[in-house]
Amino acid sequence: MRMHNKLPLDKFIDLSLYSKDFGYYMKKNPFGKDGDFITSPNISRLYSEMISIWIISFWQSLGSPKKFNLIELGAGDGEMMKVLIESFKNFPIFFNFFNFFICEKSPSLINIQKRKLLKKKIIWVSNLKRIKKIPSIFIANEFFDALAIKQFLKKGNFWFEKFVNLEDKKKYFFFEKKIDIKKIEKKINFKISHNQNFIECSELGFKYLNEISKIIKTYKGGLLLIDYGYNEKKMKNTLQAVSNHKYTNILKNIGKSDITHNINFNLFKNFIKKIGGLESNLTTQKEFLIKMGIKHRAEIISRNQNFYKKADIYYRLERLINEKQMGHLFKFMLVKNKKNKFKLGF
Ligand SMILES: C[S@@+](CC[C@H](N)C(=O)[O-])C[C@H]1O[C@@H](n2cnc3c(N)ncnc32)[C@H](O)[C@@H]1O
Repeated sequence: MRMHNKLPLDKFIDLSLYSKDFGYYMKKNPFGKDGDFITSPNISRLYSEMISIWIISFWQSLGSPKKFNLIELGAGDGEMMKVLIESFKNFPIFFNFFNFFICEKSPSLINIQKRKLLKKKIIWVSNLKRIKKIPSIFIANEFFDALAIKQFLKKGNFWFEKFVNLEDKKKYFFFEKKIDIKKIEKKINFKISHNQNFIECSELGFKYLNEISKIIKTYKGGLLLIDYGYNEKKMKNTLQAVSNHKYTNILKNIGKSDITHNINFNLFKNFIKKIGGLESNLTTQKEFLIKMGIKHRAEIISRNQNFYKKADIYYRLERLINEKQMGHLFKFMLVKNKKNKFKLGF
């Protein structure tokens, strides 16, 4: 493994997850029962079905434009896009108006997605520059938590950034370096240190939010951002590594575990506000899915099924909406133009 000796936390995470030689997302399929974690689209297809109905309704709220982009950010094993496309086929006019994009970084996941999806209908991109500037809906399911973060802490009047020391192969460790927080704030054009003594944020996340917001603002559209996270003003240290469905040490088995963090939705809300002209709405996964009719849909598809199939449908539904499982921790955020009063699901 080739790594520099001392790296800021975000560079270390980025290499661990996305290095061409050993990055976690670059070589295997981490999703599902046999992988390291499972995401909502792989728990139940009802999840993506609810999102497909939401997308059609949102598109109508924009005046049903004839030319339109649907962009999925970080499509994983392609399961959500598969169900979205299957559902959209029931609405042929709409299906034909849409350009489908997947913005994906991992070549091995792109291969898995291509095997699963209609290659002709989807355009794969590695960033948002190639996306036509027309009304667009962006869907980000567990995308932002997969982007590398920086961490800063305040001691007295000074700010320090977290780094990783990789000099001794047997004993990697964290250390801190004094920094000028104003320089960082100037770079991202956002005052992150206001009322904080600890900061956790992703520069790349802000870059994506900024680019997406500008497209939405100028050409109409929205971002549906779904992730685990919290909404308190004070930021917390939520950095974690997961392997085989369990938490592990971030500095051990590099490239073999997923490194992630919880989204601070309050921070995202303020970032959006600063751009102007846009607003964000937030709700829990439970609220969104119930408002979109997931219970009713479960009832319909479980009719005429045997006991085991029925039990499986409801067991999976419970995982998605139960407050002790994904129902509360996972949140849905909608970013859209202030003038658009669309509220479905929120
Ligand atoms: C946690 S996975 C979520 C996958 C999928 N949305 C799901 O919910 O199952 C994160 C995804 O984002 C992709 N990704 C991470 N950073 C990216 C970037 N900078 N640009 C595009 N895709 C990225 C990963 O390769 C992976 O497909």
